Amino acid sequence: MTVPNLLPPESIHQIVDEAGGVVGAIVIDSTILGPAAGGCRLWYYATEAEMITDAKRLARGMSYKNAMAGLPFGGGKAVLNKPLGNFDRHALYARLGDTIETLGGQYVTAEDVGSTLADMAVVKTRTRYVSGLEAKANLAGGDPSVMTALGVYESMKLVAETHFGLPLNGATVAVQGTGNVGTNLCRYLRAAGAKLVIADVDTARVAALGAELGARVVGVEEILSVEADILAPCALGAILNSVTIPRLSVKFVCGAANNQLAIESDGEALLARGIVYVPDYVVNAGGIINATAEYLGESDALVRQRVDQIPARVCDIIARAKAQNEPTSRIADAMAQSIILQRSNKLLA
Ligand code: NAI
Repeated sequence: MTVPNLLPPESIHQIVDEAGGVVGAIVIDSTILGPAAGGCRLWYYATEAEMITDAKRLARGMSYKNAMAGLPFGGGKAVLNKPLGNFDRHALYARLGDTIETLGGQYVTAEDVGSTLADMAVVKTRTRYVSGLEAKANLAGGDPSVMTALGVYESMKLVAETHFGLPLNGATVAVQGTGNVGTNLCRYLRAAGAKLVIADVDTARVAALGAELGARVVGVEEILSVEADILAPCALGAILNSVTIPRLSVKFVCGAANNQLAIESDGEALLARGIVYVPDYVVNAGGIINATAEYLGESDALVRQRVDQIPARVCDIIARAKAQNEPTSRIADAMAQSIILQRSNKLLA
């Protein structure tokens, strides 16, 4: 995702261990639409500055994602610096919980890359401002990747039909990454009659899925250049860049991975190649829709309703981008900013 700097984040909070060392940070980007919601990333950072830079970028992304999903939440993110070697995981997430508690509900956390349901259970022992826990009957909750995959699948189907006259039945879809989201997405696609080409660095996992679904398995270096109708990035960020974009051989890109564009101008490069890019943070909102509904104690039916609204939103962005001959990424960012600004003006009025 491209994240232009309109305003600085509202606040930045260090997470400090018992010995006084900085082990993480929470960035509250915006609370204009509601409490800042966004998961906690556990990752290796060389310096505190690098960690804060990543948290700021991710928190801004959450402000845009939540705004576009129509959620009553602003954007924020927690990051924890993953120690090399063994570390006391329980103590680390307990400190995160303590720090969140001091913010009095301004920031609500959940899982992100590196964090698990068990970690969130530890956070829950220190604060109630946490989501991504066990699901309860008829209520939202549990593994968010199911709803993320559903939103991606439904959007892909509508974009293919509306903008390309292409039914998914018989279409070829290349899926990069067959983890939680990628696997669910592949199952939806196979049920719809799509032909699948899949790749993952986890060769055992991708082979098993290939056998289950009759998908063609290719190497990870090949997946971004295979001839297909659609590319679904479901692994890492920054995979649409100056090296990969010239090699793409698809009509459009629609996947769950966060931050797919390496830099803002990659949106223009895709437009110049005539490849439609479905903005990642709009199409992959199913996970945060699920997590925030869980936090509010809402029903799983409401989650489904909100996820069902994603495809029309995606098609609206593509239509506006076509009309203005602008990258879809820029249109989405402008729409998100406008939602936040309108609310801000209302609050000030
Ligand atoms: P995951 O960790 O379950 O799956 C990622 C998969 O990508 C793994 O199987 C991994 O082996 C594979 N992978 C890593 N490097 C690769 C490479 N170079 N080539 C091919 N495969 C590679 O993660 P999950 O939950 O499926 O998420 C996938 C993406 O979607 C991530 O970028 C995540 O941030 C994003 N996302 C996930 C949401 C969710 O609800 N889980 C919500 C919104 C975004």
